[in-house]
Amino acid sequence: MALAIEPLRPAHPDFAGKVTGLDIAAGVSAADAARLEAAMDHYAVLVLPGQNITDEQQYAFSQHFGPMEQATGDFAKPAERRLPMTHNDVSNLDKDGRILARDAKARLFGLGNRLWHSDSSFKPTPAKYSLLSARVLPDRGGNTEFADMRAAWDALDPAMQARCHDLVVWHSQLHSRGQLGFTDWDAADLEKNKPVPQRLVRRHEGSGRLSLYLSAHAGDITGWPTPETRIFLRDLTEHATQAAFVYIHQWQPFDLVMWDNRVLMHRVREHDQSQARDMRRTTVADRCPTLEQPL
Ligand code: OGA
Ligand code: MN
Repeated sequence: MALAIEPLRPAHPDFAGKVTGLDIAAGVSAADAARLEAAMDHYAVLVLPGQNITDEQQYAFSQHFGPMEQATGDFAKPAERRLPMTHNDVSNLDKDGRILARDAKARLFGLGNRLWHSDSSFKPTPAKYSLLSARVLPDRGGNTEFADMRAAWDALDPAMQARCHDLVVWHSQLHSRGQLGFTDWDAADLEKNKPVPQRLVRRHEGSGRLSLYLSAHAGDITGWPTPETRIFLRDLTEHATQAAFVYIHQWQPFDLVMWDNRVLMHRVREHDQSQARDMRRTTVADRCPTLEQPL
């Protein structure tokens, strides 16, 4: 079957596409990968159903799209990891495949994925694409929602656009986890999670469109008092995550969903934590820090 890419929702032809006629396990040609990248520039999220792949196949496929990130943002220490450093473990499982205890720090840290965010916005060079493979799913819940930050930008009035245009925002995992009540950081946590600067407004290379760049990791704006920053970012996030800009993905086993972190935010919704949810993410790095990218 030939590669085909079409809108997932005919009423929303510019956000979220569906890919058929591709078998990642069999290997993907450079030409097909280039077609996927062009489609990503348009849709920002692509759903590839029925991809029953190994970790190695997922990683090899991801490498078509740029330099790979390693899972250095994960909370688990290397000895406690279930997955190799090539994969972010987004599951609720420990290294032996058992469901994490209610008070396990890895589980509590993972609750940060329920806040709207952009992956690795806390890294100096943040993420370009994330590719998330669903291996085991709970009976219900655990949807992932995606919000289109280009549409959110377009919908701001010109005065607000002008206000946002040149702002520099500081991102850290200490801020996103701080929203969940984590405060007991040791010196190593503080050192590892120093805030990094990112543009609030970005120009998306592939489409030429402007986009907001928001994330739960965002905590300060250069030159602004912190409370003013926090309420400003909260208002912007509320605007940007209105239902009109959101695609809700209901997972099927072996879905692979890839998204462009440069132009969207995402979050996972609640599910029954007594059931396994085995999700594995590979991440493609952007080419440089956002402040080095032309606006
Ligand atoms: C991620 C993430 C959402 C989910 O992998 O970056 O936020 O559905 N995951 O698990
Ligand atoms: Mn994420």
